[in-house]
Amino acid sequence: MSYTAAEPDSPTHHRGRAQRATEGWAFLVESIRNHRTVGSIAPSGKSLANLLAEPLLEREPRISNVLEVGAGTGSVTRALLPRIPRGSRLDIVESNAHFAAHLRRLVRGYPNLPAQQEQVRVHNVYVEQLTTDRRYDVIVSGLPFTNFSPGQVDEIMGRYLDLLRPGGTLTYFSYCGSRWVRTLLPSRPEARRQRDVKDLLHQYHHRYAIGCWTVWGNLPPAKVWQLRRPLDAVSASAALTAQPDLSR
Ligand SMILES: C[S@@+](CC[C@H](N)C(=O)[O-])C[C@H]1O[C@@H](n2cnc3c(N)ncnc32)[C@H](O)[C@@H]1O
Repeated sequence: MSYTAAEPDSPTHHRGRAQRATEGWAFLVESIRNHRTVGSIAPSGKSLANLLAEPLLEREPRISNVLEVGAGTGSVTRALLPRIPRGSRLDIVESNAHFAAHLRRLVRGYPNLPAQQEQVRVHNVYVEQLTTDRRYDVIVSGLPFTNFSPGQVDEIMGRYLDLLRPGGTLTYFSYCGSRWVRTLLPSRPEARRQRDVKDLLHQYHHRYAIGCWTVWGNLPPAKVWQLRRPLDAVSASAALTAQPDLSR
């Protein structure tokens, strides 16, 4: 799939800006209605979206199976679509019905895609309920783990590792500053829940992380984690002993 950026003053550029403003409102409305699952008041910015889509560039030009989970209004989907080599498959999982309908329109209207539309699918389900035999080379997750229970996070991370092919990568982000938010939390159980989620994710990082970056230009700034499923049982046990020195 080829991709051409619109000229700054072209009608396409202005249409794009107007569309993003409309999406911003739609995102805010859904975030007020479903704060726990949406987990943020604005979609990811371009620099965060591009970093999340980076593993696809690393795989180019190989055909890839890609899974995007929690796509919202599609800011990361837009970074993924032009990077997907011909013949690849993109499954988009989004639990919110309004966002899923919006994503279907986005995919249908995406330039240069019509010939390959059957290879991009939007699934309006919770990722925990996704039924598939497919295994993925790249998973990109936009889920707000800090709003979930430790059990739900553990179930989803386990599912991701199961859905990844050996050697495949999972990329996800969390917002910076959660430590300060925890100190402001009125209830102890809520602070404990957040700490437990953080500790649980730290265990996954300790085992599988291959990189971590901070995107200061996002609002709010975000930390991007990249995890890799080991190639085989031998490398899996090696991953447990030789850990990269990654901060939490
Ligand atoms: C923080 S928003 C991220 C949206 C988008 N990826 C972005 O970066 O702008 C999280 C999204 O995950 C969706 N979501 C939450 N829990 C989910 C689940 N269990 N399965 C699938 N989607 C989920 C929400 O509806 C929301 O659209």
